Amino acid sequence: METTWYKDAVFYQISVRAFKDSNGDGYGDLRGLEQKLEYIRDLGIDCIWLMPIYPSPLRDDGYDIADYCNVAEMYGNLDDLKSLIQTAHSLDIRIIMDLVLNHTSDEHPWFKASRSDKNSPYRDYYVWSDTDQKYKDTRIIFLDTEPSNWTLDEKTGQYYWHRFYASQPDLNFDNPKVQEEMLNVASFWLDLGIDGFRADAVPYLFEREGTNCENLPETHIYLKGLRTFMDTNYPGRILLCEANQWPEDVRPYFGDGDEFHMGFHFPIMPRIYMALKKERPDDMIEILRRTPTIPENCQWCIFLRNHDELTLEMVTPEERDWMWQQYAPEPNMKLNLGIRRRLSSLLDDDRCKIELANSILFTLPGSPIIYYGDEIGMGDNLDLFDRNGVRTPMQWDNSPNAGFTSGKPFTEFVKDGRSYEHINVASQMADQDSLFHAISRMVNTRKAHHVFGRGSMEWIETNNPSMAIYIRKYQGETLLIVNNLSSSAQTVSLPAELHADYIELLSNIRQQINSSITLEPYDHLWLKRE
Ligand code: NOJ
Repeated sequence: METTWYKDAVFYQISVRAFKDSNGDGYGDLRGLEQKLEYIRDLGIDCIWLMPIYPSPLRDDGYDIADYCNVAEMYGNLDDLKSLIQTAHSLDIRIIMDLVLNHTSDEHPWFKASRSDKNSPYRDYYVWSDTDQKYKDTRIIFLDTEPSNWTLDEKTGQYYWHRFYASQPDLNFDNPKVQEEMLNVASFWLDLGIDGFRADAVPYLFEREGTNCENLPETHIYLKGLRTFMDTNYPGRILLCEANQWPEDVRPYFGDGDEFHMGFHFPIMPRIYMALKKERPDDMIEILRRTPTIPENCQWCIFLRNHDELTLEMVTPEERDWMWQQYAPEPNMKLNLGIRRRLSSLLDDDRCKIELANSILFTLPGSPIIYYGDEIGMGDNLDLFDRNGVRTPMQWDNSPNAGFTSGKPFTEFVKDGRSYEHINVASQMADQDSLFHAISRMVNTRKAHHVFGRGSMEWIETNNPSMAIYIRKYQGETLLIVNNLSSSAQTVSLPAELHADYIELLSNIRQQINSSITLEPYDHLWLKRE
């Protein structure tokens, strides 16, 4: 169990810039985060995922890296990171960070050298071409801003390849030196004590004519090499795969248990929102049926929201339109193929719906990730550009600047009814009935039972189509999870084999089921069979 700790873990995703400022410069930093580790421990978190903290011109919020082996000054320095890791470990919290393999910033010295001269030794670190007609079957990801995956570099007259912003040139993984450089980057941070990586944008490492340049065999070979390197030198550290793909295309990233330890399950996420709106679990059931089994030592990573737009890449065009209609009624809520809103706003700030969505998140197979602030129902700020609206400062208390900074905050806060005067950590910690405590109860309950992270899953068909009911089983422990997706109270008859004595884990109340049960609107029960 010790080496597969990630299978039972609850993760917490943090933008360091937006979390807590310790020195009054208006930017969150590593020391600020260190001061808040006890809060994260109280929530019940096992592992933090730090979004990029590397020196960067911040044209993609740090996913455009200008120096792989340093911490940006605004966040502190390498000693601050060491201290953070040490304190986190003393609280039994692990830390993983983003490893951005696919691309650098155009301000990285490699790219500056590469573009300076066709004969530079760094020319071949990137993907250059005389024409912009190569790899035409490759989709554009940042549809709202990028007209092409190629950008002309005036000076040398060639085009360079980029799957994201033009300011993020793709590295050339056909170059063995690039492959080696990135292993060195990984080992730099692992030596510092980091517990692993969320590997960004991995489907796009290689390019091949006549393909869509995603999920290529060469990519898997490289990633398996990275895994072997980590297992050999840093056993127990993990790799989490960011591949926004269909389950059958993510499956190869687990290999035979020798590639990634974990992989995000992107397609289940929008289907949780569909289930809530349609008051039917069918879309969730369908995608989980379609999800291949993964090796014993692997784990899905599931989430409701993150720092990007709520992506609608893994749905049909009809489903996407429907999701936009339902969840993005204002034009400025849409972004690329997604919706740039936070969990609480998407669910009408409705406490019951938010808890229900979390109940589903915490009881489906996989390890859950909470996006910072969603545990208190933080909102978003649609006036901010692109995805910045969901990356506003953490709302600690109702003092000026939300207790986030004593200086001038780097950005606007969430406004109006969702501002920090109304929604903040301090008030929710003080109130036993708050969303924070409800979420924390779920996190801690989950951690006390391996069945959540390791158990089998079986859907139960009943006479009530608005209930999402399933059984989770592991080593003699059986859970019956009942989620009422409906806005009205619902009664359901359960099959005779489920009639038994249970204890409801969140309330600790005994419950006997001998025919049917009734749940309040959007209510949920986590029943452990006695
Ligand atoms: C995925 C990250 O989640 C996103 O924020 C970023 O813009 C792209 N990868 C490019 O690194």
